[in-house]
Amino acid sequence: MRATAKQSLLQSVHTVRNPASGTVFSEYTFFRKGTGEIIMCGIIGFTGTANAVPKMLKGLSVLEYRGYDSVGIAAQTEGGVDVVKCKGRIHVLEEKLREEPLPESHCAIGHTRWATHGGPSDVNAHPHRAGRVVLVHNGIIENYQELAEELRGSGVTFLSQTDTEVAAALINACYDRLGDPAAAIRQATDRMRGAYAFGILFDNRPGEVWVIRRGSPLILAKGKDGFYLASDMTALLPFTNQYCAMEEGRIACLTAASAMLLDDAGGSAAAEWKTTAMTPESAQKGGYPHFMLKEIHEQPGAVEKSVSSRIVGGLPDFSADGITPDFWKSVKNIQIVACGSAMHAGLVGARVLEEMAGVPTTVHIASEYRYYPPLFSDGTLVVVISQSGETADTLAALRYAKSRGIPTLAIVNAVETTIPREADRRIYTYAGPEIAVATTKGYCTQVSVLWMIAAAIAYTCGRIPEEQARATVDALAKEVPQAIEDMLAKREQFVRIAKGLVDHEHVFYIGRGLDYAMSMEASLKLKEISYIHCEAYAAGELKHGTISLIEPGTPVLAIATDPGLVDKTESNIREVRSRGAQVTMICREGTQVPEESADEIVFLPNRSEAAVLFASLTAVQMIAYETAARLGCDIDRPRNLAKSVTVE
Ligand code: AGP
Repeated sequence: MRATAKQSLLQSVHTVRNPASGTVFSEYTFFRKGTGEIIMCGIIGFTGTANAVPKMLKGLSVLEYRGYDSVGIAAQTEGGVDVVKCKGRIHVLEEKLREEPLPESHCAIGHTRWATHGGPSDVNAHPHRAGRVVLVHNGIIENYQELAEELRGSGVTFLSQTDTEVAAALINACYDRLGDPAAAIRQATDRMRGAYAFGILFDNRPGEVWVIRRGSPLILAKGKDGFYLASDMTALLPFTNQYCAMEEGRIACLTAASAMLLDDAGGSAAAEWKTTAMTPESAQKGGYPHFMLKEIHEQPGAVEKSVSSRIVGGLPDFSADGITPDFWKSVKNIQIVACGSAMHAGLVGARVLEEMAGVPTTVHIASEYRYYPPLFSDGTLVVVISQSGETADTLAALRYAKSRGIPTLAIVNAVETTIPREADRRIYTYAGPEIAVATTKGYCTQVSVLWMIAAAIAYTCGRIPEEQARATVDALAKEVPQAIEDMLAKREQFVRIAKGLVDHEHVFYIGRGLDYAMSMEASLKLKEISYIHCEAYAAGELKHGTISLIEPGTPVLAIATDPGLVDKTESNIREVRSRGAQVTMICREGTQVPEESADEIVFLPNRSEAAVLFASLTAVQMIAYETAARLGCDIDRPRNLAKSVTVE
């Protein structure tokens, strides 16, 4: 029944091979009606001594995960700036360029889009041109209608329904008045409300690419044959590992010979370059069918790297992150603030921080936080968690805490992004680039870092003896990676469980304590990549209403790893079994499970609490992955989602 329902939603099902990257996409294509709710786009640009167009295509094929319903390139040629763009994916553009090749160009910008204002179409695709300005945009201009009305009043006409074309027209109008690109960009963007990262070409300024960012991420990079811009560094790894993260509100001008950062006073300074540890391979699939599966398999190494760099002499030590024992001693209570899976990691971290370190810890949804802020007290530490480091809701919460003078700590994966740059202190999770939109190793390493922080605070404040601190960090560095590996070997069981889920429209995860926190992440993973509705429930709470939804065959997955609570959870299992539920139990090896309790039992290695938790995480990630794979979903780029939601 479910498969039929999905078939009826399909607008087109196709398998395409991107000749540039060789990537084969098998996907359902759902076109969202323009809802005004931005997801995300990817921008890229180059100016130098090499042909720019092949670079744009290669970089855009990596950026496709940021949006892929239309795509385009603008290239500076003898006659000015040529624009080639179309609805569809990069392979459509490549086909178009084969039929109508662009002349060689050494200066170009490119864009892959996720429709916001105006649906996917050739005319709404970027780049957009207005007079002498051609630009690509990642973000959203919230006041674009009023700006458009003003421009129409001065005779401007618009071809598309996009906010981006309005931005191009406004910059062009200022450029016509002022004649200076930097002044025009500054004057125009001062009128814009919203988030943006622009890559801009001016018809009469050959070889120059102008950029500005406010609220959307933007990276500059220096290659052997010129200078680049991109929404994220993974797109530029094939060309260079030298990058410079653009600061908020900054304008830059790239030429074949330089990358100059301009300040408000009209001064300029050369960009300062850093070397990223990422490699081109780290941004590719490495033979896996999906980035998500690759990234699940990268978890053992990612956890080991995020943990071991904070173990000195066998004890937890964050001095390399600039965090001293005295700082940990100053922490009297913690507010964790994040979104989605990052918030779920906070739920796990909060329990460990309270149980091990005795630090009162609350967890807050970032989009709620600054509107209903909790009370602060002496010794409050606000910890923001974000894989991308650019999530607008989390950034806004961070800025709120800072505005109140509260110490802030960011736990982030993407280095040099806005959130870690603005936080007082930062701890990177070192998971490496995470391409799949649904986070796995990002979440996994967030939990491992939170566990390490709990051990550091507990040991520093004398709450746990040295041998417990050593045992804890040793388990995180060795047992946890091994436990994840052990679970990855159980793929056949996860396939079997997935087959029992694909025909259902409603699935429930239940658990108590840490298992309830894990159920929250398990539920999100399943629904965001398989589109099956799923709810996570505190096992003891199900009977207070929601159990009315249980009917014969309803899948219920019960996570029961706490030895002290297994019996309680088992009674909840009997409650749903008696109503016909199909039960999968996830518990420690050695747990005595009555025969009639579950249709399927996933046994976890019976080791430390941390090892068991990460083993259960691997199980629920793989169940979600195998379910979505059987449904033929676009696992790395689920409909309606974005890797980093950079608007509120
Ligand atoms: C992850 O699977 C989800 N797609 C989403 O909930 C994500 O965790 C959330 O948007 C927060 O993103 P961040 O960690 O980059 O801030």
